[in-house]
Amino acid sequence: MFASRTNWRLEPNRFATALEEHRRRGKPLLDLTNSNPTTCGFRYPEEQLFAALNNRRMLRYEPESQGLPQAREAIADYYRGRPGFLGRETCVNPERIVITSGTSEAYNYVFRLLCEVGDEVLVPAPSYPLFEYLADLADIRPVPYPLVYHQGWQVDFPGLSAALTERSRAVMVVHPNNPTGSFIKREEALELAEICARRDLAIIADEVFLDYAEGTELRCSFAFDSPALTFTLSGLSKISLLPQMKLGWLIVSGPEALARRAMQRLELIGDTYLSPSTPGQLALAEMLAMRGNLQMQMRQRLCSNLGVLDKLLREAGSVDRLRREGGWYAVLCVPATRSDEDLAIALLETRDLLVHPGHFFDFPRDGFLVVSLIVHEAEFQEGAQRLRDFFHGT
Ligand SMILES: Cc1ncc(COP(=O)(O)O)c(C=O)c1O
Repeated sequence: MFASRTNWRLEPNRFATALEEHRRRGKPLLDLTNSNPTTCGFRYPEEQLFAALNNRRMLRYEPESQGLPQAREAIADYYRGRPGFLGRETCVNPERIVITSGTSEAYNYVFRLLCEVGDEVLVPAPSYPLFEYLADLADIRPVPYPLVYHQGWQVDFPGLSAALTERSRAVMVVHPNNPTGSFIKREEALELAEICARRDLAIIADEVFLDYAEGTELRCSFAFDSPALTFTLSGLSKISLLPQMKLGWLIVSGPEALARRAMQRLELIGDTYLSPSTPGQLALAEMLAMRGNLQMQMRQRLCSNLGVLDKLLREAGSVDRLRREGGWYAVLCVPATRSDEDLAIALLETRDLLVHPGHFFDFPRDGFLVVSLIVHEAEFQEGAQRLRDFFHGT
């Protein structure tokens, strides 16, 4: 009855079963995996948001395959003044933008544009677990390539080259990556673009966390010139802490002739779905403009939670936090005395504490836990104390 692409393992794993049981028993739970910004106590400019959505123009339906021009102009503005990896003075052309219902849909557009059934897209490991499902739904194979940790995360280029096959169509980068918080460095971006251009592969760059870099320096975006055909994805869910608006986009850059042909096809894909809603698109410029204050709150939260975490982990002794350059997460390197899943279950059962086991993000071995740094400060502190007490003396 059902297509094999949905033959997922639907039974909950041991960790999910333990969590279900914990909730069923009505036990308290301190959730250090929460990465939904709308539930983490940020102060949203509510009146401004309601006013932005209260627009008479929404009464008219004027379908646009790439999204409303004014919304695309606002997206192009967001990229103005950012550096590109080639260091040239460039800007994003609104004609090269397609608005989608969230970044996940943008992935689907790009996969459908580039890949035949069974083709392969290289995906970093560790990284965000949703990619596997997005790939399944597009009938393609996600093939992992390794990121290695050596005083910070780097692309393992020999590993990447070894993962390429005749069926490879694109290489994905997450910039900065979730959960490692590592950015692609300039030399890495250039090497990757060179490999991709030489083998007719595209780059798919997920930049949803681009604005959350440690330090004040603006990070390079993939959205500008490149020797390789490049699709840069982002959206409001992280930029303006508004995942419920379901507004994302993709930007096409790279060799002119290729980019133009890609756009012609994407226009038709966009025209087939016309999925982003008119009210959201009409308010997009205003919602992007709200990011300054929201990102400031987020930066304070990340900095404060990180400070607390580091202090308490020093007291625990046996746990290290891996170096990060940005993003919303911290990766903890813990004694691998048992599997990550067993550790996460033990934290749940003995401390009422929810953390991600590393295998959720495809870490290559046991000994990693991941926590969200956007959790409200008071809760985060309590959670970090429980982690310290759990690991103290192990
Ligand atoms: C790396 C990465 N890409 C994409 C998304 C999804 O973004 P959206 O809400 O725009 O679909 C997430 C969500 O957490 C993410 O972590």
